[in-house]
Amino acid sequence: MTDYVLAIDQGTTSTRAIVFDHSGSVVSSGQEEHEQILPRAGWVEHDPEEIWRNTRDVVALALTRANLNHRNIAAVGITNQRETTVVWDRTTGEPVYNAIVWQDTRTQKIVDALAGSQGRDRYRERTGLPLATYFAGPKARWILDNVDGARERAEAGDLLVGTTDSWLLWNMTGGPDGGVHVTDVTNASRTMLMNIDTLTWNEDIAAEMGIPLSMLPEIRSSAEVYGKGRERGMLPGVPIASILGDQQAATFGQACFEVGTAKNTYGTGNFLLLNTGTEPVMSRNGLITTVGYKIGDAPQTYCLEGSIAVTGSLVQWLRDNLGMISSASEVEALAASVPDNGGAYVVPAFSGLFAPYWRPDARGAVVGLTRFVNRGHIARAVLEATAFQSREVVDAMNADSGVDLTELRVDGGMVANDLLMQFQADMLGVPVVRPAVAETTALGAAYAAGIAVGFWSGQEAVADNWSEDRRWEPGMDPAERDRLYRSWKKAVTRTFDWVD
Ligand code: G3P
Repeated sequence: MTDYVLAIDQGTTSTRAIVFDHSGSVVSSGQEEHEQILPRAGWVEHDPEEIWRNTRDVVALALTRANLNHRNIAAVGITNQRETTVVWDRTTGEPVYNAIVWQDTRTQKIVDALAGSQGRDRYRERTGLPLATYFAGPKARWILDNVDGARERAEAGDLLVGTTDSWLLWNMTGGPDGGVHVTDVTNASRTMLMNIDTLTWNEDIAAEMGIPLSMLPEIRSSAEVYGKGRERGMLPGVPIASILGDQQAATFGQACFEVGTAKNTYGTGNFLLLNTGTEPVMSRNGLITTVGYKIGDAPQTYCLEGSIAVTGSLVQWLRDNLGMISSASEVEALAASVPDNGGAYVVPAFSGLFAPYWRPDARGAVVGLTRFVNRGHIARAVLEATAFQSREVVDAMNADSGVDLTELRVDGGMVANDLLMQFQADMLGVPVVRPAVAETTALGAAYAAGIAVGFWSGQEAVADNWSEDRRWEPGMDPAERDRLYRSWKKAVTRTFDWVD
């Protein structure tokens, strides 16, 4: 009867529901995109009501496509775009403002003021993070400062704050009628408000950031039953049994359980996570320290993460803003129409630069242009930008951990792009490996939920079900590789000091 686990993947551009069977194979799925609201340069918002509506729709789609209903589902897992912040009224369930998305840079002034004379690493020891617009706490602060009456309502205990996992969980478990207000350790580790050692809220940082504690969700593990689907919903009584930020879910789904194993997800941005074990490791090379997962009562696992803001979304930009291609998949053929980048480099510093630079003052640049450069070269430079940025993060990881990565597991939409994957292997000088089930983010959330309810025995089942689909071996002459990478590094410096 209960032969399946359902994962909800609430991503930056779309929300998906995927049903998995006991072998970890995809049985059915539903997907809907939501609007990217761009009110001005640097601002990115989502409508939380639209996300909740889409979630209900895609769950219904995934179930009906496989002729299933809630009785067939052993557990539900939630995975989500991290940092994107929603503030809502606990009585009416209404958001007081759109969700402020992780890519949004409007909190720069708040972040600068918090850094003050102590600098942007002020909270790093306690949170694992540098002060940056990327993280959730300052986004919540902005809403309280800028929405009429919000601060008073928050201080009166009327408002709740959360990342989209909490927003969905609260609604799925009943909303104003008994919804549970919970997040997991992985999402909480992206707020700048959680203590990275104790996994509890840093009350002093919350006070300095102006976030009332009464708004915050309870922090729980990534795999346990938080609540059950509300009676009048699509999943009445079904245990909701995992929450993981999408990058951590992919790390789990890729079975990166050993210290030193790593995965790189090629989505809107790229996020490379390296398992560093049960103690947090602080980066000295521009990475961040984050919780990887915590399965029930077992000790948490930490990761070093290289977060790159713009990779896949650069291809979308080529399509939507420049009209150079009509669908994202066309980029590979266009890039393959030329043998190399013709000297052109695209540095997509659209939200400043994240890892390893953390430069809010940077803005995007196309450099190396000559009369020779054509659309093919630009398409190629767009794909290469993803691989160069990933190389920079791998260099930082090798420096931080003192051990060189020997292979890289990859997943996400862009791993279907053969040209990019070969160039990635060439640029790293190590093999790049794609698993048989490419849906590792949803799969990771499904596994965690299934483990929590005994549907799977434990992490061994995940490792046993993982299998390799394809491997790209490095083939480029090292001298050529170094020449290209040097030019990339030079191109990056051209983006600095653009914004005061
Ligand atoms: O930190 C942001 C990240 O979680 C977004 O992932 O896959 O929705 O672009 P994605």
